Amino acid sequence: FVTQSLKGKKVLITAGPTFEAIDPVRGLTNRSSGKMGYALAHAAACAGAQVTLVSGPTHLDTPFQVTRVDVESAQGMLDACLQYSSQSDIFIAVAAVADWRTANVATHKIKKQDDNDVPMLTFVQNPDILQTIASRNNPPYCVGFAAETEHLIEFGQRKRLKKGIPLLIANNGPAAFGADDNQVVLLDDAGIHELPKQSKISLAHTLVAEIAQRLN
Ligand code: C5P
Repeated sequence: FVTQSLKGKKVLITAGPTFEAIDPVRGLTNRSSGKMGYALAHAAACAGAQVTLVSGPTHLDTPFQVTRVDVESAQGMLDACLQYSSQSDIFIAVAAVADWRTANVATHKIKKQDDNDVPMLTFVQNPDILQTIASRNNPPYCVGFAAETEHLIEFGQRKRLKKGIPLLIANNGPAAFGADDNQVVLLDDAGIHELPKQSKISLAHTLVAEIAQRLN
């Protein structure tokens, strides 16, 4: 049973990893299957929302009635989000964005050296997409995810305030990677709200209901 709790709302979601090229054949990426973000996109569409899914490289099918925009790097993801966020009521950042990219992408494949010398790579920080969108004028209702390996609630609340967002969904990192199940805690101004462990599909419907309730 699904309500039309987001009927008429525009929802922007990021999902999957980003891929930061080192040269034409190599790159730096994060571990993310995209399952949670895609499940949320599906659940939001079921709840009547018009959903745009900005996705890094994944192996997943586009959910029914969801508009998917494929991107590769964090910068590409930010550009797409900036384009769609001003028309969005809700922004849910689920993507595992790479924190760094190489300062320069090599034009040609970096060759292995005969003397076993290794290349020196210089990294620069990627933009924080969620924080950028949240700090814009008249931002959509912003929801973030955080994977922590310890002090889930304390680190989560700190992260929520730093990013300036009303709602953060925190989970125990490694247990959630690639898994079909997930267990999360909702952190907002009202405090903490723990949800029971459930499939990512079921969790997505619950989270959409929780978000819709806070929006109203
Ligand atoms: O700071 P951290 O990476 O733990 O924050 C996670 C949250 O911030 C997630 O919602 C993620 O999608 C978002 N994020 C982002 N851009 C980044 C890093 C994280 O949107 N560069």
